[in-house]
Amino acid sequence: MDGVAEQWLFQRGRGYHFALIIFCLSTLSCFVSAAVNPTDLSALNALSSAWGANTLKWTAGDPCTNKWQGVYCDVTNTKVVSLSLSSSSIVGTIPAAIGSFSGLQRLDLSFNSRLQGPIPPEIGKLTTLLELNIQSCALAGLIPPALGNLKSLTFLALNNNQLTGEIPYLIGGLQNLHWFDVASNNLTGRLPVSSMNSDGVGLDTMALCEHFHLNNNSFSGGIPSELGAPPNGSPPKLTKLKHLLFESNQLTGSIPDSLANLTSLEILSLSNNQLSGPIPASLTRLATAPGSKLQQLLLGHNQFTGTIPNLTPPVAGALGLLVVDFSYNSFDPQPFPSWPQLASNITTLYMEQTNLVGNFSEEILSHRTLQTLWARNNSLNGTLYIPASVGPNLQVVSLQSNQFGSVVRRPSSTNLSKVDFQLSDNPVCNPDDPFRPATPCGAISGIPPWTSPPGACGAPTCSNGFTFNTQNSGNCNCVDPFHVTLECRRPTFSRFTDELMERLRVSLRNELGLENQQVMVERAMFTSDGRADIDINFFGVDGASQPDKDTMLNITHSLKGDAQLPSLSGFKPYILRSVEASDLLLGHKNHLGPGAIAGIVLGVFAIVSAVGIYAILQKRRAQRMKHKAHPFAHWGIGDGEKDVAAPQMHGVQWFSFAEIKKATNHFSVENEIGEGGYGKVYAGVLASGERVAVKRAAKDSMQGAEEFKNEIELLSRVHHKNLVMLTGYCYDKGEQMLVYEFMANGTMREWLSGKKSYPLDWSKRLSIAIGSARGLAYLHEMANPPIVHRDIKSSNILLDDKHIAKVADFGLSKLAPDGADGHIETTEVKGTLGYLDPEYYMTQKLSEKSDVYSFGVVLLELLTSKAPISHGKFIVREMKVAYAEEGMDGLEPILDPSVHESSPQDLQRFVDLAFVCTEDRGADRPTMNEVVKALEALAQHNKAKAKVSALATDETWLQDVYGDDAGYSQDHTGGIKSSFQYSGGYTPHIPEPK
Ligand SMILES: *[C@@H]1O[C@H](CO)[C@@H](O)[C@H](O)[C@H]1NC(C)=O
Ligand SMILES: *[C@@H]1O[C@H](CO)[C@@H](O)[C@H](O)[C@H]1NC(C)=O
Repeated sequence: MDGVAEQWLFQRGRGYHFALIIFCLSTLSCFVSAAVNPTDLSALNALSSAWGANTLKWTAGDPCTNKWQGVYCDVTNTKVVSLSLSSSSIVGTIPAAIGSFSGLQRLDLSFNSRLQGPIPPEIGKLTTLLELNIQSCALAGLIPPALGNLKSLTFLALNNNQLTGEIPYLIGGLQNLHWFDVASNNLTGRLPVSSMNSDGVGLDTMALCEHFHLNNNSFSGGIPSELGAPPNGSPPKLTKLKHLLFESNQLTGSIPDSLANLTSLEILSLSNNQLSGPIPASLTRLATAPGSKLQQLLLGHNQFTGTIPNLTPPVAGALGLLVVDFSYNSFDPQPFPSWPQLASNITTLYMEQTNLVGNFSEEILSHRTLQTLWARNNSLNGTLYIPASVGPNLQVVSLQSNQFGSVVRRPSSTNLSKVDFQLSDNPVCNPDDPFRPATPCGAISGIPPWTSPPGACGAPTCSNGFTFNTQNSGNCNCVDPFHVTLECRRPTFSRFTDELMERLRVSLRNELGLENQQVMVERAMFTSDGRADIDINFFGVDGASQPDKDTMLNITHSLKGDAQLPSLSGFKPYILRSVEASDLLLGHKNHLGPGAIAGIVLGVFAIVSAVGIYAILQKRRAQRMKHKAHPFAHWGIGDGEKDVAAPQMHGVQWFSFAEIKKATNHFSVENEIGEGGYGKVYAGVLASGERVAVKRAAKDSMQGAEEFKNEIELLSRVHHKNLVMLTGYCYDKGEQMLVYEFMANGTMREWLSGKKSYPLDWSKRLSIAIGSARGLAYLHEMANPPIVHRDIKSSNILLDDKHIAKVADFGLSKLAPDGADGHIETTEVKGTLGYLDPEYYMTQKLSEKSDVYSFGVVLLELLTSKAPISHGKFIVREMKVAYAEEGMDGLEPILDPSVHESSPQDLQRFVDLAFVCTEDRGADRPTMNEVVKALEALAQHNKAKAKVSALATDETWLQDVYGDDAGYSQDHTGGIKSSFQYSGGYTPHIPEPK
């Protein structure tokens, strides 16, 4: 079905409008109007009323000819063939009317994290559908068996929802499906196969399927032998299956012999189930057969017994495996296997807790391609010899908790500084032994994240999440590129190198037909479950921040998981996450060259439709995607020296103790700007001149190295304009410190309490509310994993030098132990008096809604300028009581006079919002996203006053809220724009991050 008719439809090449004009001139007529058929129109109207015409940006007129966003029609403009509503901030459920479209071929509702409720069975009526993508929403309920009617479907992605129940076996009737992804749901039951039902269909009959992504669910029962051996003895049907991902379920029983018939398999992942018995010899043959395609054999975290398979290939050096995981099984005691040395291209070997005993042969450490070796929790003993020549790619050798009695480095052993040997909890590292070697007994470090090496302009040091393009030597301006994250679920590598990342960059450039300087791989890291997340920036040509909309669409189309991009094979399977792409279209993968475009314009009707599509794209303003400068650290080795091989960081930097000591003037009292249960906060100036705030953990609130590292990784991934940015850390000389960007304009609390040079008018209060709400919404909705702040309060809302409000101290629960100033001390509950969610306090069950409560208290502070508890009065109760008695009049004595700069209606709305946020029951409170929306609506009403306000104070203010709007900052108000940039005449105050 990848026919021409479909291809032109999604093509948005630059050649279009040019060819179009010529065509229109030559025919002297260019009819444009046609009406979408009534059936499709009513379906669209049903969606519009369910999800909101404003959210969808579906305004009046005909959907096909009037450019409804994400709606694509056929050549006649009478039929809707594609709905691309990915990342569209849709809130609500999928209405049954979605099944009424008459000829829909693509339905993409992915990445709408507030799209809830069940998948309506009516989707099964869309029998013309080729692609159904509803991944990464919040859908619940069953997978409707009616999806089995979608006989043309080639791509089905339901992953990352909350779906329950079984996979309906009728899905097995989808004979054209090549991508089947239901990973990361709550699905249960047995894996359906044809022998289990009278229709004779199941997973084993999906003959064209290449991808079974069923991981991270709760499937039970055995792995059906039918997958490799159909019940009637006919040859296996799954001859195309490449990725079989069953990991993280509750599968039991042994591995059926017949899996070995799946000879196209590249990744077989059965890890983290309850599988048992010996690993069948047939699987060994599958992996070792000459020409075997198997690259990853992942069997860790099961209950396999017997011996670890001997994967010695029949032909020396011909083992194609790249990643092998046998960890955490119940194997018999046995020596470390020798076959890994014969696996010519192996990168990653997991042998943790596999009952290995005896000596460890040093040869594997010289392996040419091996990157990481994980063999902790075994009983390897004797002497660990480190060979004279260590493999060039070796990065981590994890041998903790074994029985090594000594370590010997062979003479003239190569420089080991790049290899992280971990031997703690071995006799050789006995802490009581003063002669224990320092290096292998030191702290655990793990795989360092990677960041782009600096280009000709050096490393980017842009503020506000902007970055500059390290690939573009002629332009060192800070810009705001199109930012995506490639989430590689099963990478074939376990370390990042400059070469690997450059290869990825060049591949993307070539495959997407971009110019060299348009692609920058910015950083990469492994998540705890072995996924590799790679952040990529795409720039426009000629120094423009972002590519044009056509190119962005092509990028997202082309990087859809099932796209045929051969050079990305080592990164598959992946999903593409466009970060904060609130209105990016994730469209179709096809991309045509100029020749095809020329062919297209020969069709009269094609042109008509092209007008519509081109106009849609023209109309939409490029959406800004601010999610940059994720700082990543090289994990320092903790002995005061930076690893010389570490790439230069522009995000989270590692600092030595000496550097921080210098920056903070020996942690002098003058530099102290705050104190909490975790320790003190210091202002500092780095050698580069950059001002920072340093949080120094007190001795008794230090975490383990791994925890600290996880904390930093978490913090470094959380990136938003309205969150205080972690710029570095120090893990050296027994110290743990976090280094944050300096917030020159202090806390919201200081502003409210009149410690600043002028009082806050209403526009500025609104701006603080919106900024901090956006930061918090980001933590709840976009951070992965989501983060509950737990300590939202006005002294945790800081203002930077442009008066942009930023939330501080997120994710620091471990650094902020109970019992410190203002912290409630119970077994679980953390927070500050006056802001504490009563429901959380009662139940000790934490959720995002607890933050919403605290934020509601912050809103009340903005209304009153009062502290949440002052003169023994609790602001929430005081206001609610006053309001209950006399309405707004009752509030009058408590409100700050500035609030009357707002209209009475808007003031009422703001009060309502603060009250609903502070409802007693979490379920009655809105989500932060809803709070943001409500505040943004108020800001819209307040726009005119905001202009006056910005001019009045001669300061940088309000740009966070209004600056994105071209109409505001350019058209009428050059004066304001320049005042945004002016911040003279004002003495910055010391920040108070806690
Ligand atoms: C190892 O990798 C090289 C280069 O990618 C490839 O040519 C070779 O066939 C691989 N070896 C095996 C045994 O798969
Ligand atoms: C190492 O372990 C093996 C097997 O458990 C044992 O036979 C041997 O004596 C041990 N060697 C040393 C030096 O402890």
